[in-house]
This record gives sequence, C-alpha cells and structure tokens, in this order.
Amino acid sequence: MTFTPVTPADLEPGTTRFVQHEGAAYLLVRDAEGALHALDGLCSHALLPLEGARVRRGHVLCPHHGARFEIATGAAKGPPAYCGVRTWPVRERDGMIELDSHA
Ligand code: FES
Repeated sequence: MTFTPVTPADLEPGTTRFVQHEGAAYLLVRDAEGALHALDGLCSHALLPLEGARVRRGHVLCPHHGARFEIATGAAKGPPAYCGVRTWPVRERDGMIELDSHA
C-alpha cells in the first residue's frame, strides 16, 4: 500500500476539508471522536463537490441538497442521494495527513 501525502491541514474534530490531488477530489473528515476518514469529494447525487460539508452525528451532510453519508462507510443515509460515496485509506504520520489514492 502506497500512501500519498495530501495536505498538512489540521482538522478539528467535527470538521471536513475538501482536497484535490492528481485530478481527483476527496473529503477529509475528522469525526467527533477525533478519528480521521477520507471519502470521495463528489456527492453521488449530482456529482457536486462536498466542499463545506458539515459533520453531524456520524454523518456528513452535502452542502448542496442535504444528502447524508455515513462517515465510516460512505453509505447514503438520506435523500436525495441513494448511492454511497467511496471511502479511502487515510492516516496521520509525522504531522502529515496521508491518503492512499491507489487503493
Ligand atoms: S449534490 Fe449533494 S445532495 Fe445534491
């Protein structure tokens, strides 16, 4: 498994950060417990960027039409999205956030 550094951003619990790398978009999420996650950065409803997505009760909310995705699995949990978004391996190492974009 090859991890690619994406951003050194420091994510506070309960926040997200939209990043783009090598032509792909990702949403980094720090859940309320402090665990780091990475999801596809485009919403499965209308393929709009999840930039600005909010975290609520284990889910991220799309800022466009309110679709809800489970942070841990990317599963769609609320309309208008009925398909989930992919999750990606992510980790923190040496003060960096690294995402495996080839998984
Ligand atoms: S683009 Fe996300 S809910 Fe429509």
